[in-house]
Amino acid sequence: MALGQVGLRWLPLDRLAIFRSSDPRLAVTLGSVRLPNPLILSSMYDDLTILRRAMGLGFGAVTTKSITLGPRPGHPEPNLVRIETSAGPGLINCNGFKNPGLDAYRAALPGLPHRVPLIVSVAGESVEEYVTLVRTLGPFGELVEVNISSPNTALVYQWSQKPDEVRALFKALRAATTKPLIVKLSPDFSDANETAIIPAALDHGIGIVNYGNTRRVPEPRLSQGAGGLSGPELFPDALENVRRIRRRFGERVEIIATGGIDEPEKALSALEAGAKACGYFTGFITRGPLLARRILDRLSRELDRRGLGRLDDLRARQGGV
Ligand SMILES: Cc1cc2nc3c(=O)[nH]c(=O)nc-3n(C[C@H](O)[C@H](O)[C@H](O)COP(=O)(O)O)c2cc1C
Repeated sequence: MALGQVGLRWLPLDRLAIFRSSDPRLAVTLGSVRLPNPLILSSMYDDLTILRRAMGLGFGAVTTKSITLGPRPGHPEPNLVRIETSAGPGLINCNGFKNPGLDAYRAALPGLPHRVPLIVSVAGESVEEYVTLVRTLGPFGELVEVNISSPNTALVYQWSQKPDEVRALFKALRAATTKPLIVKLSPDFSDANETAIIPAALDHGIGIVNYGNTRRVPEPRLSQGAGGLSGPELFPDALENVRRIRRRFGERVEIIATGGIDEPEKALSALEAGAKACGYFTGFITRGPLLARRILDRLSRELDRRGLGRLDDLRARQGGV
């Protein structure tokens, strides 16, 4: 993993056309922002060189790591382990938001060219913290993602269990930026998501959900004894969540499907189930940077096969919206 990051940083892979697709039919609109295709690099990297390179590796948008008010060292190592599951290779992390903090990131972000849209992710422990983060960093992203779901920081993970406070949070955030807001949900709280969190978001004009984050699991090899599981074991639930949210909330909510997408067929299934876009991180590590191109080519072939002019038509035909 560390080697992977060094490679990503120093090898100018983003100059090679092989990683990208130029099929204009794959463009989608997310919260009024046009993405050249529906693939999103999910939140993990704060390094701006890596984010710049990732923008040339086939993604339709890339997401920053969740930035916090102050700099954080993260949890001590070991904070990331690989696992082999029957579904394929995954990760368990207890990263704990190692990041440079708001002031340093605000100073650095203007230096990042936006070859594709940037999603700025933030995480806080109070309404005031989120508002400060969104006000300050919102101007530097085309979209802003509100992480209320990382399992490795108790006060962030607990938002899903505090519906009244989440309402107040969404109200304050909607007033803090004009940018489209995304709420990143936890797969550990599917009931609360449907009965409280998504309705609160919609009531306050927040219409995009990213479903979702890692799932909390025990892991004795990690310094915290537990961490967030990512990778293909998450995919069956991620797909089911998209289907249920689509059925329950219809057109009112735009869904980014995230969790275990590491093969072209999975991305296709998530879009057919009604997702507007697909996010992944673990697949980028375990399957390599060509995964995006493989998915995009698969989507183009599907449009050819069905004689469809745009990806949105694929969703519509499948009963999504
Ligand atoms: C090492 C690591 C760090 C992560 N950091 C963040 C983060 O800062 N903010 C966030 O919202 N999600 C974070 N995630 C979660 C991913 O963005 C993603 O939601 C999750 O891993 C599920 O998708 P995947 O199975 O494709 O990896 C992190 C995941 C990993 C593995």
